[in-house]
Amino acid sequence: MKPFSMTRRDFVRLGTGSVAAGIATKVAILEPTFLRAAPAPASDTVRFGIIGTGTQGCDLLRATRSVPGIECVAAADLYDSRHESAKAILQKNIDTTREYRRLLDRKDIDAVIVAAPDHWHRRLVVEASQAGKDVYCEKPMSHTTEDGFAMVDAVQKNNRICQIGSQRVSSILYAKAKEIWDSGRLGEVDTIEAVWDRNTDSGAWVYPIPPDANEKTIDWDTWLGDTPKRPFDGRRFVSWRCYKDYGAGLPGDLFVHLISGIHYVTGINAPPMRAYSTGGIYHYKDGREFGDLQWTIYDYPKFQVVLRCNQNNKYEDQLFAFYGKKGTLFIRGEGAPAALGAGASLAFRPEPPFHAQEDYSVGSWPATQRAEYVAEWKREHPRPGPGKAEVESEEEVYAAPSGYSDLVDHLANFFQAVRTRKPVVENETFGNNAALTGCHMSNYSYFNKTVAVWNASSKSITSA
Ligand SMILES: NC(=O)c1ccc[n+]([C@@H]2O[C@H](COP(=O)([O-])OP(=O)(O)OC[C@H]3O[C@@H](n4cnc5c(N)ncnc54)[C@H](O)[C@@H]3O)[C@@H](O)[C@H]2O)c1
Repeated sequence: MKPFSMTRRDFVRLGTGSVAAGIATKVAILEPTFLRAAPAPASDTVRFGIIGTGTQGCDLLRATRSVPGIECVAAADLYDSRHESAKAILQKNIDTTREYRRLLDRKDIDAVIVAAPDHWHRRLVVEASQAGKDVYCEKPMSHTTEDGFAMVDAVQKNNRICQIGSQRVSSILYAKAKEIWDSGRLGEVDTIEAVWDRNTDSGAWVYPIPPDANEKTIDWDTWLGDTPKRPFDGRRFVSWRCYKDYGAGLPGDLFVHLISGIHYVTGINAPPMRAYSTGGIYHYKDGREFGDLQWTIYDYPKFQVVLRCNQNNKYEDQLFAFYGKKGTLFIRGEGAPAALGAGASLAFRPEPPFHAQEDYSVGSWPATQRAEYVAEWKREHPRPGPGKAEVESEEEVYAAPSGYSDLVDHLANFFQAVRTRKPVVENETFGNNAALTGCHMSNYSYFNKTVAVWNASSKSITSA
């Protein structure tokens, strides 16, 4: 079963209309993959545990409920309340513990989901691989460059299936974007832009601290892991993304998603040659160590990638734009045509065919020469006859159906691979390259105020 096989309806014409001279629009709703609906015999049930049932762990557990043929049997979290949250989502009593090793030691568990903060990813993935478990590990895969390579090593030496959790790469919209990219319809692409902006305290990681969060309910010492010891700090516990010891700021939270989407669509699976990053803390001067605005420009061999994430203005929510000589491809987080609802959408817009009459430089020609040029041009480009529209090409808009979840598809892809041993869509090498690019090159440049250069032979980032 190919992970990306999917049936797709022909265009659903919810309306065609001229959106600009010469361009008509056709609109389609994509059909979800069949993976999530594929029945599996009871003997094939994959039993899994989850390590970290905080915000994302709970979302993952909710999504697993739509994946057939799997069963969550245990959850580990250092915060006791999160055991209750896991049970409530699953609506059953499972084995819950503060000790993740208990899950790894259980022989009846095939796979684990790792949804602890970034500074725990390396240890959990390495130990899970050594314990013979397949692993779904949240993005960003690694907290440091060295962590990433150690994780790749452990997964591969132990022949494990590993999926990294940038769920976009399993989205039906991104599969469509890849199909358009691979078809060559964009022509040469020299620029790719991606933006993910927010403008709320929650979007800037200022989360409320749960009233019962304290050293009695949380194993704080273990939570700190190998980072410097410090007294219990509820702010660090919930807003760990703000601090270098545990997270990677906007690059770790959002750039890595954007880069994963771009690598997937373009088929790139390597860091770029160079990155230059800048930004700052403009609003959230609350002791955080990462900017609330960050830009990075990357040099890839064939194009430039420009990323921006902002926590102080949300004019554009999420936008990818691939600018080609023959067409432009947009993916929007919000903003599907009204008829399709407000979900994510993709649009392919052909560029004008560049055979418009030149009317700029000929302004300096003598009138007779100019008139001859215009007459000749009109002879070569006759207007369509009466009743014929001047449609040169069609814009295509695609949207996912209401309620579609790429997270469910991403998990389904992982569990299918656990069962079949066939490759996942976002393995440890892909995840490592996305983290190197999205987080580590970007933050190296940001903090050192220099151009970051990727050295493949030494697997390291240095200054230009
Ligand atoms: N794919 C996505 O869209 C997405 C979205 C949000 C977060 N994430 C990622 O998911 C991970 C978790 O983020 P979050 O927002 O859920 O954080 P969170 O702080 O809400 O939850 C993390 C949980 O992990 C637990 N934990 C920490 N160390 C542990 C250990 N050693 N053993 C057991 N439990 C441990 C904590 O007690 C906490 O409950 C991060 O890597 C983050 O980048 C991914």
